[in-house]
Amino acid sequence: MTQPQLQVALDQLALAEALQSLTLLAPHIDIIEAGTLLCCSVGMQAVRTLREAYPQHTLVADLKAADAGETMTRLAMDAGADWTTVICAAPLATIEKAHETAEEYGGEIQIELFGHWTLNDARDWQRIGIRQAIYHRGRDAQAKGQGWSATDLDLLRALADIGIAPSVTGGLDAQDLALFKGIPVRAFIAGRALYGAPEPAAAAQAFRQQIRQYWGQ
Ligand code: 5RP
Ligand code: MG
Repeated sequence: MTQPQLQVALDQLALAEALQSLTLLAPHIDIIEAGTLLCCSVGMQAVRTLREAYPQHTLVADLKAADAGETMTRLAMDAGADWTTVICAAPLATIEKAHETAEEYGGEIQIELFGHWTLNDARDWQRIGIRQAIYHRGRDAQAKGQGWSATDLDLLRALADIGIAPSVTGGLDAQDLALFKGIPVRAFIAGRALYGAPEPAAAAQAFRQQIRQYWGQ
């Protein structure tokens, strides 16, 4: 099984803070995410600046688009994103338009799995060409005590069987990764546990160590 990659979600509100975190984290991660909060706070300038500063990393703009799939995707990809996200509640027409637009750029759409969605939706997404989703425990749900369950693991396996590679996120810390052992996770995405750690590089290395331990060298 391919080793999951490590993605940092930069959800700070100030670009300078995000850039400061990256000076410590960039050597230890594979994918940089301009987080939803950073994009809302700063706009696409955040994506442009990250692209210029880190041309080699895969760059995601986590826009969670719900409509205007083409325009939202162009905004992200003209700014330099490789991937951008569309919320699972978006109509299939929006997802299709976003996917077609991403393909023009050689990019990809990831479906953000929040709230209500079904495996039949996932089959529809796969049929129109989507190959990635982000399995997400919401920040607010986590704050209310929601953990990870056997249902989450079953849904992750089912997504992979359908042909949609799942990334996993939502208040993850390194110790959580063992829960997902045996599942073909595309990437683990962490924000606060990385940029908010007293020693961000050490925190990223702890994630890496867990990935090696449970997904092999
Ligand atoms: C929230 C997000 C975050 O980027 C994602 O949940 C990762 O952040 P954290 O690890 O801090 O929860 O998309 O909607
Ligand atoms: Mg995010």
